[in-house]
Amino acid sequence: MIFVTGGAGFIGSNFVLDWLAQSIETVVNFDKLTYAGNLNNLASISDDPRHIFVQGDINDTALLSQLFEQYKPRAVVHFAAESHVDRSIHNPGAFVTTNVNGTFSLLEAARAYWNTLSGAERESFRFLHVSTDEVYGSLGADDAPFSETTPYAPNSPYSASKAASDHLVRSYHHTYGFPTLTTNCSNNYGGFHFPEKLIPLIISNARDGKALPIYGDGQQIRDWLYVGDHCTAIRRVLEAGRVGEVYNVGGWNEKANLEVVHTLCDILDKLTPKAAGSYRDQITYVQDRPGHDRRYAIDARKIERELGWKPAETFESGIAKTVQWYLDNQEWVRNVQSGDYQNWLEKNYASRDSKEGV
Ligand code: NAD
Ligand code: DAU
Repeated sequence: MIFVTGGAGFIGSNFVLDWLAQSIETVVNFDKLTYAGNLNNLASISDDPRHIFVQGDINDTALLSQLFEQYKPRAVVHFAAESHVDRSIHNPGAFVTTNVNGTFSLLEAARAYWNTLSGAERESFRFLHVSTDEVYGSLGADDAPFSETTPYAPNSPYSASKAASDHLVRSYHHTYGFPTLTTNCSNNYGGFHFPEKLIPLIISNARDGKALPIYGDGQQIRDWLYVGDHCTAIRRVLEAGRVGEVYNVGGWNEKANLEVVHTLCDILDKLTPKAAGSYRDQITYVQDRPGHDRRYAIDARKIERELGWKPAETFESGIAKTVQWYLDNQEWVRNVQSGDYQNWLEKNYASRDSKEGV
């Protein structure tokens, strides 16, 4: 079986659903269920005996050790993290606690377990660390995309904490020979994406007749990858990636934020037209994110060359599926918009009109 952390979050739950649809292997899904973790994402496999959910914190080394001993996984796939850049600006401590200390604690438990293995089990064990392109910093308009050898230059507390976790993973391979794999991926989008992030936020605000907040001039560029393609990339790296290596994963889809928002509005105008006017009329420019990275772009040639992975979706096909998913799953959206989510909106957006900022 495989041991997944953070499998109730956006990418993790897509990965678990995808895994069980493709493989006979059981998944132990270990997740703290923070505001971003949601068991509703996994409702379709609630009766599947191959899915074993355990609520817990990756900082709990003792619990992790007990679970490794009990389930004897052949691999760990590590998604669990605090993942939202804006939240890291308001509360960086949580990012250090989970992303740095938590990854350390998980590495320690996994290494201790790996040390008990021998022969083929020890040989084939893998620890796959899911990371981000944000560790490489920000690109200028004419810079080459991030490759696996681009020097690290994280700019937000989120990306700094992910960079620290990447360094720990790297060191465990270099020092102990621990069989790690690291993926650094670009911006994902798709179903089960929590509506604090740009694409699901714009879709739900548009539908609710609310402002569509564009930070700064809206010309920041992200390289968008459909979440299903990220899942296939992770499966492929787990299957055939070279131990100790890093693989950049991206969609070859660089888009400015404003272009993404325009695309979403245009799709919504077609699928669910307003009584009058366009969703574009709701676009509102708000104060920029402090330290906002201007451009990310991924050079994904290594994973294509070595492992034969390429994204299956274009931006056009993936974004159309995504909008349709949100229209078909409005109850899911309503459920995650209750409680703490409203406090977050107030905290992040209420002050953006004022000169003081966040
Ligand atoms: P998410 O915020 O949607 O989900 C994170 C999950 O981790 C949640 O289920 C949460 O409950 C769980 N979690 C948080 N703290 C935990 C802890 N201390 N112990 C156990 N579980 C904990 O995140 P996501 O967008 O699905 O991202 C998953 C991973 O992929 C992260 O490591 C992120 O850095 C990385 N990543 C994300 C993107 C993206 O575009 N979303 C792109 C590249 C890489
Ligand atoms: O690049 C990979 C990263 O992508 C992941 O590591 C992160 O976990 C993930 O959250 C994402 O980070 P971004 O900061 O790029 O994603 P976000 O959806 O928050 O923002 C995308 C862009 O849209 C960014 O330039 C900020 C902008 N934005 C975002 C929000 C929430 C807005 O203009 N308005 C908004 O309200």
